[in-house]
Amino acid sequence: MYNLLKGKRGIIFGALDSKSIAWKVAERAHEEGATFVLTNAPVALRLGTISELADKTGSQVIPADATSMMDLENLIDKSMEILGGKIDFVLHSIGMSVNVRRGNHYTNQDYNFTKTGWDVSALSFHRLMSMLYKKDAMNEWGSVVALTYMAAQRVFPDYNDMADNKAYLESVARSFGYFFGRDKKVRVNTISQSPTPTTAGSGVKGFDGFIAYAEEMSPLGNATALECADYTISLFSDLTKKVTLQNLFHDGGFSNMGVSTAIMDTFMENYTGKEDSSEEAKTKK
Ligand SMILES: NC(=O)c1ccc[n+]([C@@H]2O[C@H](COP(=O)([O-])OP(=O)(O)OC[C@H]3O[C@@H](n4cnc5c(N)ncnc54)[C@H](O)[C@@H]3O)[C@@H](O)[C@H]2O)c1
Repeated sequence: MYNLLKGKRGIIFGALDSKSIAWKVAERAHEEGATFVLTNAPVALRLGTISELADKTGSQVIPADATSMMDLENLIDKSMEILGGKIDFVLHSIGMSVNVRRGNHYTNQDYNFTKTGWDVSALSFHRLMSMLYKKDAMNEWGSVVALTYMAAQRVFPDYNDMADNKAYLESVARSFGYFFGRDKKVRVNTISQSPTPTTAGSGVKGFDGFIAYAEEMSPLGNATALECADYTISLFSDLTKKVTLQNLFHDGGFSNMGVSTAIMDTFMENYTGKEDSSEEAKTKK
């Protein structure tokens, strides 16, 4: 390891179990010499296995519902107390759609569910940065990262209202990132990650097809949770001090692809098969 985060203090949201991207980030941050506080929603702390991660990384766990300003204030105060000073890095790794969970189609949402999902997945990022900013809790050249998905830019029908939440999240990163950069020299970025088999990821309808398609489409294949953690560490480190207001694709090249030969071959196999067996083809023959 490279001691990239030696002496740095952080807050990591969203480690539910060992598949979580945040879990891998915590493990990697520990290996790189950081100290940090782990946090998650109280209900997730009861269901998940975060205490295992806390033991392994010598961290304390502070419950916080990311939609509660009171919880966020308490989390930030306590984190600075425990870690002994201001914060150098924060990971927002939070996502949840009630419409997805309940199987509501995008065209037929329950708007109370939509509001809850937006509050948890997107507005929480504004709430978090606003609390860090008001409390002047970040050190200069600190780094804030949130995780997002490419459905913010392109259509993935089954990603449902999470697509809109991610578009909002990415916009908040830019808008808040301006003020955080100008006033406190703090950078703010989003990482747009490949489909990854986690609890949140696997909740998306047709996830198996989704992930297999992305794998075949990407010249380097899908990025794993651990690879995402590595990339996140680079953004927390001093090696990326002038990177801010960016949505950074971490997806094996998927986002710039039109079509790959692997996908085209599969498509043509089916397409040719269908064409040959159609009534029109039979008549022509
Ligand atoms: N898995 C993928 O395919 C994928 C792809 C791109 C981006 N992402 C994003 O990565 C991030 C992490 O997701 P993951 O895939 O590791 O899944 P995950 O299910 O392990 O993590 C999601 C986390 O959000 C937390 N959370 C939910 N409601 C909360 C609340 N009110 N307050 C605080 N925390 C709350 C959950 O407890 C959980 O720990 C999410 O933003 C997700 O949208 C995931």
